[in-house]
Amino acid sequence: MNQYDSERMAEALAAQGYALTADAAEADLVILNTCHIREKAAEKVYSELGRVRLNKERRRREGRDTLIAVAGCVAQAEGAEIMARAPAVDIVVGPQSYHRLAALVAKASTTGKGQVATEFPAEDKFAHLPARPQRKGQVSAFVTVQEGCDKFCTFCVVPYTRGAEFSRDAAEIVGEVERLAARGAREITLLGQNVNAYHGGGPDGRPWTLARLLRRLAQIPSIDRLRYTTSHPLDMDDELIALFGDEPKLMPYLHLPFQAGSDRILKAMNRKHSIADYEKVIAKVRAARPDIALSTDIIVGFPGETDRDFEATMALAARANFAQAFTFKYSARPGTPAAGLERQVPEQVKRERLYAVQSLIDEQRRAFDRATVGQCLDVLLEGSGRKPGQLYGRSPYLQAVHVEGPEGLIGRIAAVDILASSPNSLTGVIKSGFEWHEPVQAAV
Ligand code: 5AD
Ligand code: SF4
Repeated sequence: MNQYDSERMAEALAAQGYALTADAAEADLVILNTCHIREKAAEKVYSELGRVRLNKERRRREGRDTLIAVAGCVAQAEGAEIMARAPAVDIVVGPQSYHRLAALVAKASTTGKGQVATEFPAEDKFAHLPARPQRKGQVSAFVTVQEGCDKFCTFCVVPYTRGAEFSRDAAEIVGEVERLAARGAREITLLGQNVNAYHGGGPDGRPWTLARLLRRLAQIPSIDRLRYTTSHPLDMDDELIALFGDEPKLMPYLHLPFQAGSDRILKAMNRKHSIADYEKVIAKVRAARPDIALSTDIIVGFPGETDRDFEATMALAARANFAQAFTFKYSARPGTPAAGLERQVPEQVKRERLYAVQSLIDEQRRAFDRATVGQCLDVLLEGSGRKPGQLYGRSPYLQAVHVEGPEGLIGRIAAVDILASSPNSLTGVIKSGFEWHEPVQAAV
C-alpha cells in the first residue's frame, strides 16, 4: 500500500513541477514513506533521516535547499514529535492527507515553517487527488480500494494510524483501472488492509462487494489478471470464494493471515475467528480452486504464548501447507492493548520460534515451487531480468520466473515450460510455437 501511496504522491506533485529523480542525494524534496506496523520498521525512519539530514546540510553549503517530508503511518502516529526528534524535517503528513501534500510543500518552501497534517479529514482524499496521468506505466499495478480497519486486533496499530474502514466508490476504481489498462497494465492487485470487507458504493447506489467489483473489473478486455490483498478470514464470504472457481482472470493465489494457531491466543488477539473457522475457509477455497497457492501472516511470541500454543501454530501451518508466508516476532506497539499485557515473551524465545516457523514455511514454499517444475505456466513478463537477454515475470501463483527472451515481449503473457526451481525463483523456457496472448486495448 505504501508503494501505491508513493506513486500517488509523486503524481500529485507533478503539477508543481516535481519529477522523480534516480539520485536521492540530489533531490530538492525527499519524502520518506514510512511504516509503523512493527518497531523495527518505525525505527528505520530515524536512521534514514540521519542520512538525509547530512545530505541536506551538504546541499545547503552548496547554496541549495532541500525539503524533507515524512509520510505514512509513523507520521500519523508520532506527528509533530518527529520534528522535535529530527528538526531537519519540514513536513509531516499522515496517510489520510496526501491530497494536501502539494499545498504543504508550497507552504513549507515559502514560509520555511514546519507543516504537520495528521488529522483524519472528513473529505475523501481519493476524490481530491489528481486523476492518474496517462503515461506509460507498469505491467502490473496496485490500486487501493479500501483503507483502514475496524477489527482492532490487540497487537495492531492499523486502526489507529489508517483510521476507520473506508471503501472507495466502485465507479472511481473502475475508472482508475481503465486508465491503468490504457497505459499498459495487464495485472491489477486490489489493495486494502481489509480488502475483502470492501463495500464501496456502486453506480446503482447500492454497496458493492469485493466479488462484484472483481467481476466488473474482469470485463475490462486488456486486464488479464486480478489479485487482491490482504483479507480477513471472517470476511471470506461464499460469493468471493466461488469466484476462484468461476472467474478465470482471478489468479489462484490468496493471502489469508491466521496470525496464531491456538484459539486461546486468537481470543487474546481479538481476531474474532477460531482455528476451525480458518480451516473451514481454506477448505472451501481449495474446493473452489484445488491448485490455489495459499499465503499467510504468522506472529510468534504474542504475550502469554506458551510452547503448547506455539506448537499449535506449527501444527496449523503444517496442515494448511502454504505456498509462502510472512512470519513476524510480536512487536509491542505503543497504544495497542497487547503492549500492556503481562507475560511478554522473552526475545530469545521469540527468536527460536521465528526460526522454527520460518524453516517450516521455507520447506513448504520449496515443495510448492518444485511441484510446478515440468508444468507449463502462463507468465506475465514484467521486465528485464538481471542477466542480459533475460526477462522476469510472475506465474499465476505469484512465483518469480526467469526466461530468455527479447525485451519486446515485456507486457505479454507467455506460456512457459518450467524447467527448474531455485530458492527464490523458477526458470523456464518460452514454449516454442506458442501464440502470444495479444493485449486488447481497452476503449476508454
Ligand atoms: N507485531 C508483529 N507483527 C505484527 N503484524 C501486525 N502488527 C504486528 C505486531 N505488533 C503483522 C500481522 C499482520 C502483518 C501485516 O503484520 O501478521 O498481518
Ligand atoms: Fe490489523 Fe489486520 Fe487486525 Fe485490522 S484485521 S487490526 S489491519 S491485523
